[in-house]
Amino acid sequence: MHLLDLDVLSREDVLKIIEYGIYFKKNRRKHEKVLDGKSVAIIFEKPSTRTRMSFDIAVYELGGHPLIMNQNEIHLGKKESIKDTAKVMSRYVDAIVARVYKHRHLEEMAKYSTVPVINALSDLAHPCQILADLMTIKEYKGKFNGLKIAYLGDGNNVCNSLILGSALVGMDMVVATPKGYEPNAKTVLKAKEIIEEYGEGSLTLTNNPIEAAEDADILYTDVWVSMGDEKDKEEVLKIFPPFQINNKLLEYAKDDVIVMHCLPANRGLEITDDVIDGEHSVVYDEAENRLHVQKGVFKFIFEQ
Ligand code: CP
Ligand code: NVA
Repeated sequence: MHLLDLDVLSREDVLKIIEYGIYFKKNRRKHEKVLDGKSVAIIFEKPSTRTRMSFDIAVYELGGHPLIMNQNEIHLGKKESIKDTAKVMSRYVDAIVARVYKHRHLEEMAKYSTVPVINALSDLAHPCQILADLMTIKEYKGKFNGLKIAYLGDGNNVCNSLILGSALVGMDMVVATPKGYEPNAKTVLKAKEIIEEYGEGSLTLTNNPIEAAEDADILYTDVWVSMGDEKDKEEVLKIFPPFQINNKLLEYAKDDVIVMHCLPANRGLEITDDVIDGEHSVVYDEAENRLHVQKGVFKFIFEQ
């Protein structure tokens, strides 16, 4: 199976991957070697700290061999078609992890690859990040049902996958963006179908940050301008500030709210220093959990 976004998973699958992540975290270095004798290609068209390190170390600690390639070290889509690259790579490796600009390039790779393709971030989605975030929420809150999660800022890749992840585990999600920066319409539709299927959770889109923050158990934000994004930066600085997570906004949320950010953060823009460094912030747990949950993803994929 391929993991291009979370909608390929059921609720049961997501909960299983989180459980695996928790198991791998508890048993660091003395766990089963799920990738024993296997090789994993890890491709980056854009910079990365967390994804690059966590995948490299996850593969190594699972007994496999990680092969990291940056954009300028591979022909991908330039000197060679994505189709040929995917077919050739499938003859060498057991899985492909890729961070790309265009999600449709990932879809093309998945179409021609005979080994699993895992999305390490595209312009549409960031599923591995959200699995780590759901694991973090499980650790802090012990449950998903009945929780209100508020995402504030740009309706980007992280927001899209968070919408699917929240729907899958049955949380009540409110997404607050400026007008014109709403999340992907197809993703929103899919999430609504998931919510209907399980009969739990909800999804509300608004342009009002206070409505989102009110009584929230979780506040989540991400950068206002993503990598490869061609937004008008001047306009962004004019219209996004009301969506900043700061101490004033925190007052609307529950007393035990947790504050999340996938990182890297633009401190002082989408989130203030005092909040990201404050007692509600769980950002470094999210970053750490990338390592553990991605081991869970490999275990899950290879037992299919
Ligand atoms: N959160 C995340 O994906 O970070 P990197 O860009 O550093 O990988
Ligand atoms: N939305 C951000 C996430 C980075 C991890 C971006 O795509 O740049």
